[in-house]
Amino acid sequence: MAASLAPSILSADFARLGEEVREVAEGGAGLIHVDVMDGHFVNNITLGPAVTAAIRKVTDLPLDCHLMIEKPERYVEAFIDAGAEMISVHVEAARHLHGTIQNIRKWGAKAGVVLNPATPLSALQDILPDVDFGLLMSVNPGFGGQSLIRPVLDKVRQLRAQVDREGLDCRIEIDGGVTEDNLAEVASTGADMIVSGSAIFGTDDVRATTRRMVRILADAGEVRA
Ligand code: DX5
Ligand code: ZN
Repeated sequence: MAASLAPSILSADFARLGEEVREVAEGGAGLIHVDVMDGHFVNNITLGPAVTAAIRKVTDLPLDCHLMIEKPERYVEAFIDAGAEMISVHVEAARHLHGTIQNIRKWGAKAGVVLNPATPLSALQDILPDVDFGLLMSVNPGFGGQSLIRPVLDKVRQLRAQVDREGLDCRIEIDGGVTEDNLAEVASTGADMIVSGSAIFGTDDVRATTRRMVRILADAGEVRA
């Protein structure tokens, strides 16, 4: 089965954020990827719970909050209160990862763990049974518009094989450098959710671009509900 498309609003026109979120939703996006950056874990600053709450008002799609922040445990509840259904935290930033994952679930959201490109899958092993999804970064976090780091495709394939072999209830998300040109190849790795930012929001017609990319995923297998 192929993936659903998760447009990353990092590359959206923040002066028209609500309209652009509606447009990708109308184009068939499966979830909205919300990139949260604190200027410490990554050298960029984006948005927080208040903007997440504003986005919540304009779409019913799941909000997939990717926390690229130090000590993410401090803000998990605030993002869930703002309406996030999915919260992912970096294994490189969460000092008490198991407890943080437990709290995300306790407060009612799906819990995800993120690996930077150079962080091996072995870092996931002890937490994999406890998470709802694994997010594998195919760019170095902090900015949109970067090129996909191709070895991460094999990392996705390996995680897909492990999840299927062990019958784990863990979905797989890939994030960074995904474009219309490489989307079919990325979908073939077995990822369940595929993030794309600049390849969508950098185009003149966000709705039409989303529609084309969703069709590519549909051609790769029935789109996951
Ligand atoms: C990068 C973010 C990604 C990024 C994807 O730190 O986590 O979600 O916005 O954007 P593109 O698709 O432009 O690489
Ligand atoms: Zn992201």
